[in-house]
Amino acid sequence: MKGIVVSLAGFLALFVIIWLMHKPFDVHSSNCRALAAAHRVFEWLLVAWGVALLAHFALLFFYKGGAKEVTLEAKPQGKVAIVYYSQSKVANTALVAKWIQSSVGGELFPIEPVEPYPDAYGETLKEAQKDMANGGTRPIKPIPSLDDYDVVFIGSPIWYGTYAPPMAEFFKTHDFAGKTVAPFCTHGGGGAGRFFADVGRNCPDAAVMEGLAIRGSNQIERRLGIGASAHHSNNDVIIWLNRIFKAKQ
Ligand SMILES: Cc1cc2nc3c(=O)[nH]c(=O)nc-3n(C[C@H](O)[C@H](O)[C@H](O)COP(=O)(O)O)c2cc1C
Repeated sequence: MKGIVVSLAGFLALFVIIWLMHKPFDVHSSNCRALAAAHRVFEWLLVAWGVALLAHFALLFFYKGGAKEVTLEAKPQGKVAIVYYSQSKVANTALVAKWIQSSVGGELFPIEPVEPYPDAYGETLKEAQKDMANGGTRPIKPIPSLDDYDVVFIGSPIWYGTYAPPMAEFFKTHDFAGKTVAPFCTHGGGGAGRFFADVGRNCPDAAVMEGLAIRGSNQIERRLGIGASAHHSNNDVIIWLNRIFKAKQ
């Protein structure tokens, strides 16, 4: 996706250069042969660039051969809960939670703060910073007991290098002793940070599996509605599930 945006920007820049060369004088009847030659080269470059862009778009939208299907070869044993917090309109972490559910089944438990964060990104940052300064938690609506579940997937967006404050509140109210915990997160390009270590610290008596970090949206992508599905697919989840649960069996 990033590639095509850069490519499109280059194409537009070249278009503007050619247009600017036209502005002061008619380059084709100009006496300046060097300018006319440069203009011709730029025109051909623009045509070639346009063709390449069209091909790129066509590949992106019509060619599915590259997305080879991966099959699930290992499932977790026992009853599965998928607990997650997802804040943005793009809902990256919710999407990954649904990808997990589509592979292994189980019940989804979305975490909802009592007071939701504002929609505007800047406002969310301010509120989140306040929560971070106040112990890093934010009150949530009750999540039922997970005593009956054997395997708990726990997912959050990365906020300032770790899980978001509502997830901290969830950890305070639940115990994972004897369970298998599989952490997952989405981030804006900075990676999982301290997330996996912090989840492990909150589940001292659980078997905590290797986690999954999925690229979600950065600030610009978030505005454009570009989310995890632009960077990843359910395949990445299946590959991860095969790795962690196959290793366990
Ligand atoms: C308050 C706040 C802090 C964030 N901090 C980070 C960060 O430290 N590193 C990072 O890569 N992304 C960061 N992000 C981006 C989110 O992790 C990313 O957009 C995520 O996919 C959002 O998930 P969601 O759609 O489930 O809410 C931050 C976003 C917000 C709103």
